[in-house]
Formats: sequence, structure tokens, C-alpha cells
Amino acid sequence: MKGKLRATPSRGLSGRIAVPGDKSMSHRALILGAMAEGETRIEGLLESDDVLATARAVEALGADVERLGEGRWRVTGGPWRSPDAPIDCGNSGTAARLLMGAAAGRGVTATFTGDASLRARPMDRVVAPLAAMGATIEGGDRLPITVRGGQLRGIAFDNVFGSAQVKSAILLAGLGTDGAVSVREDRPSRDHSEIMLGAFGCAVEREGKIIALPAHRQLRATQVTVPCDPSSAAFPLVAALLTAGSDLTVTGTLANPLRTGLYKTVREMGADIRFEEEREVGGEAVADVTVRTSALRGVTVPANRAPAMIDEYPVLAVVAAFAEGPTVMHGLGELRVKESDRLAAIADGLAACGVRAEVEDDALTVHGCGGPARAADIFTQGDHRIAMSFLVAGIAGQHAVTVDRADMIATSFPGFADLMRGIGARIATA
Ligand code: S3P
Repeated sequence: MKGKLRATPSRGLSGRIAVPGDKSMSHRALILGAMAEGETRIEGLLESDDVLATARAVEALGADVERLGEGRWRVTGGPWRSPDAPIDCGNSGTAARLLMGAAAGRGVTATFTGDASLRARPMDRVVAPLAAMGATIEGGDRLPITVRGGQLRGIAFDNVFGSAQVKSAILLAGLGTDGAVSVREDRPSRDHSEIMLGAFGCAVEREGKIIALPAHRQLRATQVTVPCDPSSAAFPLVAALLTAGSDLTVTGTLANPLRTGLYKTVREMGADIRFEEEREVGGEAVADVTVRTSALRGVTVPANRAPAMIDEYPVLAVVAAFAEGPTVMHGLGELRVKESDRLAAIADGLAACGVRAEVEDDALTVHGCGGPARAADIFTQGDHRIAMSFLVAGIAGQHAVTVDRADMIATSFPGFADLMRGIGARIATA
């Protein structure tokens, strides 16, 4: 969807919906499937631009990849080869960082690049540990970067960024060595790599803050079912929370506690939000999530919650704008190096809406005032989550909100506008 999108004040949002599959798990299912001997079947794969970049990448690296139907894919893994052309990871930091790690461990030579946003994001956080493991890396802190894998050695890495991408890059590289490979995390980050490695027959060990690869690192093909992405479910759920007269359920949502920080936070703010039919799918917690319109009050969100809701701060900032009183969010430094400088994009977007907000060091304070005070045009910086978050503000508030671009929403949430219209939201091209 090219061009601008405008959201206008909407009435009660309701229904029972599913959103597309989890992005983090989808990348990992393709990469691990490509590394495992044999045929891996994936159900519920997110078919977004980011994930399709990973599908093309693992194909270029030697896997056989076939789409069998909507969200149903077959990946036949085996030995990897060095591709002839650079691998274009598009907008996806997860694709770039995880694939660099995997390629290093597989002993292939591959050049990784991406779009302008991805080429501006820091890569030293994975380059440094991969080099310490013995990979030869050409290029600096930014893509394009060439990885020459080889005989790697082990590493004991301290994951100070709280980044699951960095942790995963090291674990994937570590599959190619017999050396001891461990990652220490003071603030636990999403553990889908660890859980999915278990499903592929490599039972990652966890003791306190240390995660370690076991001696047995052979992967065997398996079946992966990908639940709905809680980071995508956040947009319709928050829109329902804030729009008068709403009652909405998103079924089959990934409910891994390292992903549900937003849900915990809105509950603390007074939200009527319930997890029902809690179950386990492929070692991951899944639930149906229901919200009803709620009056909310500002809260303080501690820094140690950041990894469990890192992608949800833009939409939480919108929630905070509708709440009563200030909401203070600590520990947001990593937001500066996402698909955009999200801290700046959030603050500028709120200012455009006439909502008072301040950034001080790594903390953001939003002074809740019942939502946008005027109609606004939002500069998204080409960031999908900034676009969707401010569209939610336009749906739930009293004034129209227009975003300058919407095509990039397809990097994570294809069909977003149609799905939102389906539950009663007013969104149209502008
Ligand atoms: C992701 C980890 C997070 C998150 C990103 C997906 C992953 O990034 O922001 O959207 O799949 O591992 P960091 O690991 O850099 O925090």
C-alpha cells in the first residue's frame, strides 16, 4: 500500500480475530530448518517482507525452500554453500544478525546488505563476538559486511545489550564448533532460539543467567507451528482498549513471558485484559487474548522490563497519551537503533498530536491527556511500528491522524489496514 494512510475516530471495535504469525519465530524456523538435515515443515509462517528476505537468503545459502500454501512452508536443509551474490536482508535486523552468525558457523563466505535503514544500524554487536570466535569479518559496524566462516572456537559472552538477536547469532555460530559456547544475560531476552533449538534436537542448557549450547549440536528436521505475533496483536488490542465500546479477542497469540511486557504494563494501568485458553504449542506458551475498553492511569515502567516489550514502546506511548497522568518508561536506549530512532519518532509524533512528552537520557515521560489534542500528520521515518502506533491514536481519539507512508507496514504485518477495518476501525488512503 503506497502513499499516506489516515485513521479517523472510530466506534467500538469488536470481533475474534487472528493476526499473522510471529516474526521472530518465523525467521528462526527458516534458518534452523535450513541448518538441519532433512525436511522441516512450518505452519503459520509470517509471510511479510522481512521473513521473505530470510526465505530467499537461506535458499541462496543452499536450502531448498518451498511454499506449500498460506503460511505453510517446507525447508530442506543440509550443507550450506557460499552464495554468488550479496544477501539482501531488506529492512530486517533479525535476518541480518542471525544469518551472519549462522553463516560464520557453517564456514561459508557471504556478504550481507540491506535497505538504507538496515545499513544505518549497528552490527558491531554481532561482528565483535563472531570475530572473537574466529570468523573473518570484512566491513565495519555497518552493512554491507562479508562474513568468512571457518573453524570457530567457543566463547563466553556477556549480552549487555539485552539483545536476543546478538544471543541468537552467537548460538547459531556456536553450532559449528565443539568449543564451549555460553551467553550470560542479566536481563533475559526472548528465548525463541533456545526453545526452537530444543525442538530441532539441540537442548540448550540454562543455569541462572547463563545459557549454554550442549555437547550434542546436530540439528534434525522437525515441524514448527508459529503462533500469532504478540507484537502485531498489540495494535488491534490497544486500539480496542482505547476505543469506547470495544470488546476484542485475538486468538492463538504467542504468550511467552519474555514477549508479554506490554500486556503486563497495560494491566497495571487498569486495563481489562484476559488471557484465556492458555496452552502450549511446540514448547511456546499460547493464549487467546481479550480486551475491553478501559479507563487507564499512568504508571512507571521499569528498565528491566524493556527486553520483554522492546518493540511495543511506540504503541505503549500511544496508550500513555490516552491515560490519566504521566507514564514514565525507563531503559529505552535500544530504541535509538531500531528500524528508526524510535525514541525521536515517538516524541516527535506525540508533539505533532499535541501530547506533551519528554525524553531524558534513556527515559520517556508521556503526560496523558485523553489522547491527541488535534489532528496530526506523522513522519514515520519509514518505520512500520511508528506508522501502526499513530494510526491507533487516530482510531481511538477525537482527531484524524495521517501517516506519511504505509508500504513498510508489510515488513511485519501484511494486511494490517484490512484487518483493522474488519473490526470496525476507520482507516483509508489519504
Ligand atoms: C528480535 C529481537 C529484538 C526485537 C526485534 C526482533 C528477535 O531485537 O526488537 O524486532 O527476533 O530476536 P534486539 O535483539 O536487537 O533487541
